[in-house]
Amino acid sequence: MSPQERSASSAGEPAVAAVVVLAAGQGTRMRSATPKVLHELGGRSLLGHVLAAAEPLAAGTTIVVVGSGRDQVEAHLAEVAPAALPVVQEEQRGSGHAAVVALDAVPDLEGAVLLVNGDAPLLRPETVTALVAEHARAGNALTVLTAEVEDPTGLGRIVRDASGAVTAIVEERDATPEQRAIREINAGVYVGDAAALRDGLSRIGADNDQGELYVTDVLGLLVADGARVGGTPAEDPDDVLGCNDRRELAARRRTLNDRVLDRLMRDGVTVVDPGTTWVDVTVTVGNDTVLEPGTQLRGATTIASGAVVGPDTTLVDCTVEAGASVVRSHCLEAVIGPEAVVGPFSYLRPGTRLARGSKVGAFVETKNVEVGEGSKVPHLSYVGDATIGLGANIGAATVFVNYDGVTKHRTTIGDHARIGSDSMLVAPVTVGDGAYTAAGSVITKDVPPGAMGVARATQRNVGGWVLRRRPGTPAAEAAAAAERLTDAPENTGAHDDDEGRPSR
Ligand code: UD1
Ligand code: CA
Repeated sequence: MSPQERSASSAGEPAVAAVVVLAAGQGTRMRSATPKVLHELGGRSLLGHVLAAAEPLAAGTTIVVVGSGRDQVEAHLAEVAPAALPVVQEEQRGSGHAAVVALDAVPDLEGAVLLVNGDAPLLRPETVTALVAEHARAGNALTVLTAEVEDPTGLGRIVRDASGAVTAIVEERDATPEQRAIREINAGVYVGDAAALRDGLSRIGADNDQGELYVTDVLGLLVADGARVGGTPAEDPDDVLGCNDRRELAARRRTLNDRVLDRLMRDGVTVVDPGTTWVDVTVTVGNDTVLEPGTQLRGATTIASGAVVGPDTTLVDCTVEAGASVVRSHCLEAVIGPEAVVGPFSYLRPGTRLARGSKVGAFVETKNVEVGEGSKVPHLSYVGDATIGLGANIGAATVFVNYDGVTKHRTTIGDHARIGSDSMLVAPVTVGDGAYTAAGSVITKDVPPGAMGVARATQRNVGGWVLRRRPGTPAAEAAAAAERLTDAPENTGAHDDDEGRPSR
């Protein structure tokens, strides 16, 4: 924290009385049915990133000006920032008009107000805090965040006088050729005194190329009044980049992702291929974890130390504990315990909880299941609505038949049980501790502890069938040759032995 930030917050008072996010614009250039500020990057909407950047200010009031797609934006706000107050701008008459509508909703508000465009997803809390601190330190009526950029195309230019003092913000379409050559731009982030803002906004006109009311015009009016106005460059110019079309959205997403990966790598995470690894801002990863290429970590995902994730793995809202590995898999709301092994090609659905050292292998789908310590579901299975004890093994191609077409039912598998390959476990059903099921069984009744559940037809071999019914085929020739060689007696059928194995 800089000395300025410390002094701004040391009083214990909120550094600003209100945060106002301008988010009513149409975002025409997105060419989308979704309002621009709801487009997503790095695990939050554009609007969500802006709100997160302002959050440490702990303002008593947060207003979001909504208009285009207001129902969608309001619903989103109710979810991500229920304390924020949506204020409707019925007609989108410009950013200045949006600011008027916001301040009219809080007529008694006094003190500093942060005004911020809703489409600045790379804005960081430290940048906002520094701007607010500088505004207070300088005793300004209005302070605007600026940046020197390589390509200022389309942005408002910061005009300064010979002494370096900011005198105006000029939109590109209204700028003179000399003004267009300026590379210091308006970030669309302002801190202003509420009274000064109200006064300035009451006097702006729409005498510009778009015929809109520009919030930026307030600055020139306040300068003309002799008020103190400042322009503070952002420490990282990336912070100020807006997002107006899908190309910019992709570019902002890339920058945001690079920032997240930089942070993870500094914290001791190995990122094998930053180019193909995507991590939301909300994710945490412990040190000595390896993220292999093609990994996507989304939402509330948390990964402990010493895990391996990827290649080609997507985790959404998952918890991965220390030393676990998840390879080429897709997992949603799953908890993967310490030292557990998942994949390749596993699909873990919500409610999956894998205990320490358990395993879910290739082509296995799980849902709403607890797999006990050291238990294994190694191959080709569906496991839904079940509790599996410790040290159990679920044979290949087992299906937990949890759905009767109307209702879901649970299956319980005891400790150290052995489920034979290709078992159908028709829920509700319980296989007791240490019990077995025979391969290929359709288990519809509980299997008591230690018992072998067998539920399949007895095998019958029809001797000589191929020679009689498929004469002249390669199979018949092979059978005839085998008979000649071994002179084997014809098989006439067999009985299962008492362990459910067919006799030969
Ligand atoms: C704006 C600034 C420009 C700055 C740029 C930074 C103005 C006039 N210009 O330009 O100086 O360099 O941001 O990215 O403000 N909005 C409303 N209601 C409206 C119109 C806009 O709420 O009637 C909101 C938009 O949702 C957006 C913000 O105001 O969040 C700015 O509007 P936008 O049209 O994106 O302005 P820019 O042309 O990007
Ligand atoms: Ca914009």
